[in-house]
Parts: sequence; structure tokens; C-alpha cells
Amino acid sequence: MRACLATKHTENNMRIIIAASLLLFAGTSFAQQSEGDPQTGKVRAYTCAGCHGIPDYNNVYPTYRVPKVAGQNYLYLVNALNAYKDGTRKHPTMQVQAASMTEEDIANVAAYFSTLGTTNSQGQD
Ligand code: HEC
Repeated sequence: MRACLATKHTENNMRIIIAASLLLFAGTSFAQQSEGDPQTGKVRAYTCAGCHGIPDYNNVYPTYRVPKVAGQNYLYLVNALNAYKDGTRKHPTMQVQAASMTEEDIANVAAYFSTLGTTNSQGQD
């Protein structure tokens, strides 16, 4: 009877360990998928800066206001760019911009912009 209980106990512990490692694994792969690389994104975002001009969030020339993307939420940026890409959100300029971006580009650029403004309001580093 005692031996039987002990086995049961060990079995439960094993289940918990397996479940915990699965969760950990799932968490890790999710993080890798959802977060782009800001350094790669910075290079890709070079063309965006002409319009999403930081500071003041004006187009450089001709001067008109564009939405602030620096410091914007990561998922918001990914969703906005995907919406332009698939045509859900309509704006000729941004649709052209997003059309040439891969999923990876979008993730990287979003990672880059979302980290801007949080440490330095001028968006320079
Ligand atoms: C020629 C100018 C121009 C360029 C270049 C440009 N954008 Fe835009 N962008 C705009 C304008 C104008 C809007 C507002 C469009 C609208 O009303 O939907 C906008 C909107 C956005 C939005 C949505 C912002 C919000 O608040 O909803 C995102 C995200 C964005 N741009 C990212 C980018 C990225 C990333 C790049 C570079 C790959 C880029 N843009 C290049 C002009 C530009």
C-alpha cells in the first residue's frame, strides 16, 4: 500500500514537470515568433523615416502630418502593416510600403519602432 502511494506521487510529479517544460517550450517559441529584431528592423525602417519623420512626426518634404509610429505598441504596428498589406486598411502610400514587406520585415520594423521613444524621445540611439 505504501509503495503504491509512493509510485503515484512520483508519477504526479513527473506529470507536473512535463507540463511545466511544455509550457516553457511553448512560451519560448512564441516569444521568438512574436518579437522581431529591432536592429534588423532599423535598417529596413530607413525609408519609413522620410515620412514618419522623427522628431515631430511630420513628413520631411512636403510637410504633412503622418501618424506617430515611434514608441507605438508592437502588436498595433504589426496589425496596421498587415492591414495595409492585405488591403483591409486603405491608404495608397502605405499599401505600397507594406506590399513589399515580408512577415519578417513587419515583425522587425515593428520591433524597432516600438522600442523608439521609450528610452529616447528623439528616436536616436
Ligand atoms: C511616403 C510617405 C510614407 C512612407 C515612406 C511610409 N509611410 Fe507609413 N504612413 C504614411 C501616412 C500618410 C500614413 C497614414 C495613413 C492612413 O491614414 O491610414 C501612414 C501610416 C502608417 C502606419 C499606421 C499608423 C497608425 O497610427 O495607425 C504605420 C504602422 C506605418 N505607416 C508604418 C510605416 C513603415 C513601417 C514604413 C516603412 C516601411 C512607412 N510607414 C513608410 C506615410 C508614409
